[in-house]
Amino acid sequence: MAKEEQNLLEKVVSLCKRRGFIFPGSEIYGGLAGFYDYGPLGVEMKNNLKSLWWKWMTKEHEDIVGIDGAIITNPEVWEASGHVKSFVDPLVECKKCHHRFKADDIEGDKCPDCGGPLTDPKIFNTLVPTRLGVIEDEKIDAYLRGEACQTIYLNYKNVLDSTRVKIPFGICQIGKAFRNEVTPGNFLFRQREFEQWDLQWFCHPSEMGEWFDYWKTERMDWYKSIFTNPDNLGFYEHEKLAHYAKKAFDIEYKASPIGKEMEGIHWRGDWDLSRHSEYSGQDLSYTDAETNEKFIPNIVETSGGVDRTFLFLLLDAYQEEDDRVVLKLHPKLAPYKVAVFPLLKNKPELVNKAKLIYQDLRKDFNAVWDDRGNIGKRYYSQDEIGTPYCITVDFQTLEDNTVTLRNRDTTKQKRVSVDEISKIIKDKISQ
Ligand code: GAP
Repeated sequence: MAKEEQNLLEKVVSLCKRRGFIFPGSEIYGGLAGFYDYGPLGVEMKNNLKSLWWKWMTKEHEDIVGIDGAIITNPEVWEASGHVKSFVDPLVECKKCHHRFKADDIEGDKCPDCGGPLTDPKIFNTLVPTRLGVIEDEKIDAYLRGEACQTIYLNYKNVLDSTRVKIPFGICQIGKAFRNEVTPGNFLFRQREFEQWDLQWFCHPSEMGEWFDYWKTERMDWYKSIFTNPDNLGFYEHEKLAHYAKKAFDIEYKASPIGKEMEGIHWRGDWDLSRHSEYSGQDLSYTDAETNEKFIPNIVETSGGVDRTFLFLLLDAYQEEDDRVVLKLHPKLAPYKVAVFPLLKNKPELVNKAKLIYQDLRKDFNAVWDDRGNIGKRYYSQDEIGTPYCITVDFQTLEDNTVTLRNRDTTKQKRVSVDEISKIIKDKISQ
């Protein structure tokens, strides 16, 4: 990794901790590799991100419905899905420094860290096992789900029977997945507990090609609509395919200093429903009400990482300009939409007026109050967390009910009436 890129990642990691976006998991106990917690600003931004995705899927597409499935399923699910057999990583270890690597990441037969000799690859299954039950002899072995999408296949028939969807249609879900990653690392990029957003699109086998291309374009357009620099996004076509896939493209964040994959568009064909039919003994075929044709629906999957998207959005939005650091996040994603300041904190008339404006804005937006230090410092503090607007209440406000509205990206200020503020912000976040 080039020094500049390494620095960018380090700066973002440090900003995340300092300003309450992301904290290392169980930090006071020394942490645990591959686990992170979202702090007060991180959870706001992540919720904004997930709600944009959910709205786009279920409100902007008539034929998509959502579910929220359980993390633990009957363990047979993972036999049927192929994960017990094929969800594996070959691992090599350096005989000298004992660092471990995914064999797929290594070129040559020497340790990338110390040049020492490597062991032969050993195969590890990446499903995370757990045990259920209270009495030792009666405990059953289960797994935390290795990919969120399996609960969609398990509920495909329930959704058909309980709603009015017809082929082609989609089921979407946002949920946690768990993987015993051999080499967790690079901050949120490779974790052991992470969140996925999936669409499983069920269609007639003869229409797979068409729908695959359709979702590939749709998903790329969606990502482009939320990134600061959409030109940093691109496709990568996989040659080496997962056990279920017949064709796969990644949507990548090309400017990433670490791994680039953000979302996979997968041609899953009839693999999932056929396997679950076979293993469960249930008929998961579909009968077209008009033609009476009976078939196993094929599936186009779009499966993305919420945390990876979150990380890439921060890397993309981070900028250093003159004497400030600014996150040029899309206003829809920014944790706070507006900050309200009284010009001076020892003037009760200014503070009272500013508090009224602040309380009013809080009814519609996530707003934040700041009366520390001088106005310049408050601006910089908000720039660093991506707040698109700052409002300052000064003596003129008391006379004509106007405030200064400062724009994060241009740093320009203009005088606006207090009555206009809500509309200006609403317009900006609806773009
Ligand atoms: N259902 C298909 C599936 O799970 P995947 O390519 O293994 O496909 C989909 O995962 C997305 O989940 C990836 O593109 C990535 O964004 C995210 N992801 C996968 N493993 C991850 C990990 N260890 N940490 C964070 N995100 C991960």
